[in-house]
Amino acid sequence: MTPIRTIEWTVDKADRLVPGHVRMIDQTLLPGELVFLEIRDVRDMWKAVKTLKVRGAPAIGVAAAMGVVLAAQSAGAQTGAELVEEVNRAADYLATSRPTAVNLFWALDRMRTLAQRNAHLPVADLVLALAREAVRIFEEDVGMCRAIGRYGADLLRDGQAILTHCNAGGLATTRYGTALAPVYVAHEQGKRIHVYVDETRPLLQGARLTAWELMRAGIETTLICDNTAAFVMKQGLIDAVLVGADRIAANGDTANKIGTYGVALLAKAHDIPFYVLAPTSTFDLSLRSGDEIPIEERDPGEVTNGFGKPTAPAGVPVYSPAFDVTPGGLISAIICEKGVLRPPLEDSLRLMS
Ligand code: MRU
Repeated sequence: MTPIRTIEWTVDKADRLVPGHVRMIDQTLLPGELVFLEIRDVRDMWKAVKTLKVRGAPAIGVAAAMGVVLAAQSAGAQTGAELVEEVNRAADYLATSRPTAVNLFWALDRMRTLAQRNAHLPVADLVLALAREAVRIFEEDVGMCRAIGRYGADLLRDGQAILTHCNAGGLATTRYGTALAPVYVAHEQGKRIHVYVDETRPLLQGARLTAWELMRAGIETTLICDNTAAFVMKQGLIDAVLVGADRIAANGDTANKIGTYGVALLAKAHDIPFYVLAPTSTFDLSLRSGDEIPIEERDPGEVTNGFGKPTAPAGVPVYSPAFDVTPGGLISAIICEKGVLRPPLEDSLRLMS
């Protein structure tokens, strides 16, 4: 199991939860350097989320909740009502960092609700309650990922190989990951699972992050270019596809890293099960279908000048959505902390909720 703590709340004085700051891995520097950042200001947290220093749906939910605490503890509010206003301002601001992963909005809503319900408390007690809520969101995520790992591991047999896209591992969550959690649990159970890792253009989360954390955990790993996925499936090398999610609509349509939809189509064509693994904090059952999921577009420079090297003619028009939507009909099952949801996904999601 990966012992890496992607993000955590760190106290400034040993016996008190607040004041504190956020300690997180700068994921943009991996795999070259393992650098921990100390974030003490809500604006720095916004930048860290926007620039993918912290990324992955569950991790940015935790980051946003902790960002609200950073704003609250330095607000200088005199009354509970003033602090609630500050919490709402910080939450509105953090909500503008990235649009697709619903975990961010889910965590911010929890922080707003907690502040509103406790507005009568003295300011210091309200700040403490907010910090406790952020830590609770962190701890719940650890538990949810662990449960996903247990349900997912039951679907994997010794000697099997899976393919994954992007990074939905420990780095993208608080600890075990979602798509990679079953691999870590299976590894603990003594099963040998081989992981084929899509490199994941343009920001290479697969190559830079997934391959890094799997190798660190001693899991057999093979990196492939994104355009190799069809060929390894055709060669019979893949037993299942495991991916994470950024938002799941009521009909099972799932937003995840750009390229996931293509992998799902390939899995269907080769009769390979395609599993989505995500905590219920990634479910957005208020949306009827994936058509309503807002899709983030990224800076063209990430495609034309990735990692500082020009790879396209200057000025070429670029379209760079960060996510795509896999129709629920291509998904064999959604695995969340409550169990394995099978098609028809619309019914399974409704019953579960
Ligand atoms: O742009 P990113 O790196 O934040 O995209 C991340 C993904 O698409 C992950 O697969 C998803 O957030 C699930 S993480 C458990």
